[in-house]
Amino acid sequence: MRMYDIIMNKRNGGVLSDEEIAFFIDGYTNGHIPDYQASALLMAIWFNGMNEHETAVLTDCMARSGDMVDLSAIPGIKVDKHSTGGVGDKTTLVIAPIVAACGVPVAKMSGRGLGHTGGTIDKLESIPGFRVSVAQEQFFQIVRDAGLSVIGQTGNIAPADKKLYALRDVTATVDSLPLIASSIMSKKLAAGSNAIVLDVKTGSGAFMKTLDDSIGLAQAMVSIGERNGRRTIALITDMDLPLGHAIGNSLEVAESVATLKGHGPADLTEVCLQLAANMLYLADKGTLDECRRLAEDALSSGAALEKLRAMVIAQGGDVSVIADTSKFPQAPVTYEVKSPSDGYITHMETEKCGIASVALGAGRESKEDDIDMSAGVVLVKKTGDKVTRGETIARLYTAKQSALPEAERLLLDAITFSDKQPAPEKLILARVSKDSVERF
Ligand code: URA
Repeated sequence: MRMYDIIMNKRNGGVLSDEEIAFFIDGYTNGHIPDYQASALLMAIWFNGMNEHETAVLTDCMARSGDMVDLSAIPGIKVDKHSTGGVGDKTTLVIAPIVAACGVPVAKMSGRGLGHTGGTIDKLESIPGFRVSVAQEQFFQIVRDAGLSVIGQTGNIAPADKKLYALRDVTATVDSLPLIASSIMSKKLAAGSNAIVLDVKTGSGAFMKTLDDSIGLAQAMVSIGERNGRRTIALITDMDLPLGHAIGNSLEVAESVATLKGHGPADLTEVCLQLAANMLYLADKGTLDECRRLAEDALSSGAALEKLRAMVIAQGGDVSVIADTSKFPQAPVTYEVKSPSDGYITHMETEKCGIASVALGAGRESKEDDIDMSAGVVLVKKTGDKVTRGETIARLYTAKQSALPEAERLLLDAITFSDKQPAPEKLILARVSKDSVERF
């Protein structure tokens, strides 16, 4: 088999055979196929796409290019959750404890933030002492004892994706539906859970800006999961405004703890309950309505908060910050952004809110950058709120006084004001399963 013929097949709009896909992934991972041939094939895929079978085979080969985690030492149905990335998206910190409190084990590997979006692992590391690097045996033991564990990626998960993602980044081939879907799902398949709930974000802060594109991505990922033997459901959730009020690591943990104590923001609480209900549904805990009630009970009884505490203790974190989140190290500089006009906030460009938080020190501009765990933004007002001129609309937290003007400018640029009250935005826009797309 020759890489030249595989490129020509896809360039001419053909369908790649299973053997051709396996030849490409094996050869590229072990260095026998050079970047220039891989780039040519990626561009041919960008133009001509892949059918569902090709995409599922590509994903399976990428998953098998490295370690396939075997979670069978943990009893029960393991359900993973993946979010396609957002601003202020702290859902894992709330959902994992809810699901664990309902008796479904959560053994989850999460990622770090890059660019304008945050990552669960950075957020957990803002808890003093919390260890995200845990050996596999201990990871399994924590899940068996505490019911849940969230750690950073260990071992050699989907190395083909690592190489291909870096190549796509510099060859203008990131935004291809089969390539995005296979990249995300290869890591989920390798992580070993039996079922997967996907939170596909849509809107100004998301990869996919329109509902139709988001549904298309969700359908591609659900098809990959189901074809590879994992029950998979996707919810399309709104990322046209940040989720909750807090953006930044310890600020987001504090908001998650408030949500687990029953007084979190309504939007964050609702999205977490829906995602948790779908995870419980895939774990065979009942109908979707019954699972929703189980999730609500886990929150209102305090059982979910207790699960978060158990995980923090098991992973060496200082649990006193969960009891009292004012004990988190505080940013030395705070600043209030005031509304420049009277009226309603009708739109927030979510990506700019995330960039403002990064400018304050809460995120990385390159992989090597350090994060300031206490930096970030709290949005006091959000889309739909009435404001008066001079009223505080956001609070900024930082150690870099010099970053304040840029962060303030970004936030004010991100917000659109109007005299007219906007219609309320839907939080969950669709649910995609292998049999149906329900739009809400
Ligand atoms: N996230 C991934 O892991 N891969 C993509 O291609 C896009 C988002």
